[in-house]
Amino acid sequence: MDIHIINFPKIEDERGNLSFFQNNAQVPFEIKRTYWIYDVPGGEYRGGHAFKDQQEVIVALSGSFDVVLHDGIKEQRFQLNRSYYGLYIPNKIWRSLENFSTNSLALIVSDMNYIESDYLRDFSLFQKIKNDENSTI
Ligand code: TYD
Repeated sequence: MDIHIINFPKIEDERGNLSFFQNNAQVPFEIKRTYWIYDVPGGEYRGGHAFKDQQEVIVALSGSFDVVLHDGIKEQRFQLNRSYYGLYIPNKIWRSLENFSTNSLALIVSDMNYIESDYLRDFSLFQKIKNDENSTI
């Protein structure tokens, strides 16, 4: 499955709106882990890595930030600023989160538990893996 924006249900109500996602429905995998990034000082960025196997969905629950994705060939930037949109990121995509607004809150769900050996933290190694993949297709 390719990178795409997921439009979560939005139950509009005069008491306040409600959105949700659940396993294998709005989120196209079984959720194993949830984490969130908050209190990011102005100008800081997070991420700057890819995952060998895990997939993720990122949601801006509050405020806004940019998710910059690189597939080894081209870069794409998504500004997330609505709590009813999620960004699906397959494995082997380099990603960084930046331009956090004050009090922004990034929610991330993944199909794997935290495991450091799933990280690719060296961009040139990541590009080599992607190039090798492309040359065998
Ligand atoms: P990391 O994923 O490297 O953060 P970012 O990509 O946003 O810069 O994680 C930072 C630290 O937090 C790292 O030492 C591992 C730890 N961590 C966990 O223990 N469990 C988790 O689920 C995550 C995402 C990170």
